Amino acid sequence: MQLPGPGVFGPPKDRDLALAVLRRAVDAGVNHIDTAQFYGPDVANELLREALHPYPADLVLVSKVGAKRDGRGRWLPAQRTEELRAGVEANLASLGLEQVPVVNLRRLPESAVPLTEQLDLMEALRREGLIGGIGLSNVGLEEYRTAGSLIEVACVQNPYNLADRTGEDVFEACRSEGTPFVPFFPLGSAFHSENPVLGAPSVQATAQRLGATSAQVALAWLLHLAPNVLLIPGTSSILHLEENLAAADLLLDEEALEALP
Ligand SMILES: NC(=O)c1ccc[n+]([C@@H]2O[C@H](COP(=O)([O-])OP(=O)(O)OC[C@H]3O[C@@H](n4cnc5c(N)ncnc54)[C@H](OP(=O)(O)O)[C@@H]3O)[C@@H](O)[C@H]2O)c1
Repeated sequence: MQLPGPGVFGPPKDRDLALAVLRRAVDAGVNHIDTAQFYGPDVANELLREALHPYPADLVLVSKVGAKRDGRGRWLPAQRTEELRAGVEANLASLGLEQVPVVNLRRLPESAVPLTEQLDLMEALRREGLIGGIGLSNVGLEEYRTAGSLIEVACVQNPYNLADRTGEDVFEACRSEGTPFVPFFPLGSAFHSENPVLGAPSVQATAQRLGATSAQVALAWLLHLAPNVLLIPGTSSILHLEENLAAADLLLDEEALEALP
């Protein structure tokens, strides 16, 4: 989300830098990248294609369907089954793939389309070979349970970070079942003027005490929760990318875990 232009709309302000961030990530060992055709729209996927195609065999590109943008960049629902299919086809075209490794069904709470209908369609797309695995995004516990009874859930991508644990029940269910859990907004997101994670005094104090940065503390905390947590911090900066990767080596001690919100 941080590679297209402001508001995840239009081209990046520095295209060469966006391409360099992607190449550096893969060079450094990143093998899981989250994207969406509606980031830009098409901008994030086209950057991925230009930077990395032909993709390394072990690279898992994860996209999502369920939304679209209008000409002014507003986010609109695209929840109907024909829109989900069109969304997958648009991802295949812009990524230059015959199969998207994983596609998240991004649900909207107000969606009028029954989840079971959407899952039927996603499963059909998987059987046709257009997607490798089906993930879920923005789901509650009941939706997660329903999906789990009908399909194999490749991963769950919900908001979750040090300042927002509203999805604790889904996180716990994923942890106990070993379903990969991908917290989005791991750093508190770029949408707030005051970042609720990186700006939290306890996060800053812990970072200072451990000789780390606030971002590294926020990511290390997510990683310490469970082995099924996969991180997708968004960045447009090579410096931040390197810093975020180094968070994997930061161990939070007892004092840190007690101090954090
Ligand atoms: N499924 C969904 O509905 C959904 C919704 C939202 C997001 N997502 C996915 O989740 C990903 C992560 O969320 P996000 O990018 O919105 O938010 P985020 O990762 O919580 O935060 C991104 C913000 O943190 C900054 N940042 C990154 N590394 C930093 C560092 N080391 N130090 C200081 N600031 C740093 C970025 O700025 P710089 O560019 O300057 O580094 C950007 O402003 C998205 O990119 C997207 O793929 C999915």
